[in-house]
Amino acid sequence: MIAFENVSKFYDHNTVLKNITFTVQKGEMAFITGPSGAGKSTLLKLMYMEELPDEGNISIEDIHLSSLKMSEIPLLRRNIGVVFQDFKLINNLTVFDNVALALHIRGVSEREVHSFSSEALKKVGLRHVADSYPKSLSGGEQQRVAIARAIVGGPVVLLADEPTGNLDPDTALDIITLFRELNSQGTTILIATHNRELLKNTVKRLLRLDSGTLTEETVL
Ligand SMILES: Nc1ncnc2c1ncn2[C@@H]1O[C@H](COP(=O)(O)OP(=O)(O)OP(=O)(O)O)[C@@H](O)[C@H]1O
Ligand SMILES: [Mg+2]
Repeated sequence: MIAFENVSKFYDHNTVLKNITFTVQKGEMAFITGPSGAGKSTLLKLMYMEELPDEGNISIEDIHLSSLKMSEIPLLRRNIGVVFQDFKLINNLTVFDNVALALHIRGVSEREVHSFSSEALKKVGLRHVADSYPKSLSGGEQQRVAIARAIVGGPVVLLADEPTGNLDPDTALDIITLFRELNSQGTTILIATHNRELLKNTVKRLLRLDSGTLTEETVL
């Protein structure tokens, strides 16, 4: 479960998130929407502790983030798959090695690294470019590599920041279908997007951020 309790975040004098309270239950799939600059990426960054809140409490899977030591952050991140808005792929590693890297660091056996990474690339339809380098791929393909890397370790929680931003409508739908599948297998998923088109027919739960304030939208 993800729980925010009265969370605020300021950058200098700019209030980016204002007294945010919400929960996403284990196994739920929810969307955060809102205009550019509303604070969607910031909200996600607080969950994997790239940023820290100025006020309030956040817990993920019953772990109170404020009680974690710096040295415990990697353990938290093992349970959280993140698709970054700017991908953050490593350009001097092949597609395969980008996906496999986190498993290697965790000490997963060579055989499992290979089978899990191949499986993740297959799920996003990119097994044929496993030996290519990110720079030689289109924006949409790089985005799918980022998705494969986020799901490869079988995360408990998947956070995706504009995961379909560079994808054509059909590929975007494929990715949402994949997220639904992962969700039906028990992964808790939170997707930030301003793509209203994508939200049609896919939304189970919609949270809306506007100027740092969160409201729950009724899904029709
Ligand atoms: N590191 C930072 N330092 C200062 N201000 C920041 C920082 N990160 C974000 N902001 C500001 O916080 C606000 C929210 O940014 P954020 O990236 O969370 O928005 P967003 O909803 O993800 O937007 P987009 O839809 O364009 O991705 C913006 O006004 C942004 O300029
Ligand atoms: Mg953003």
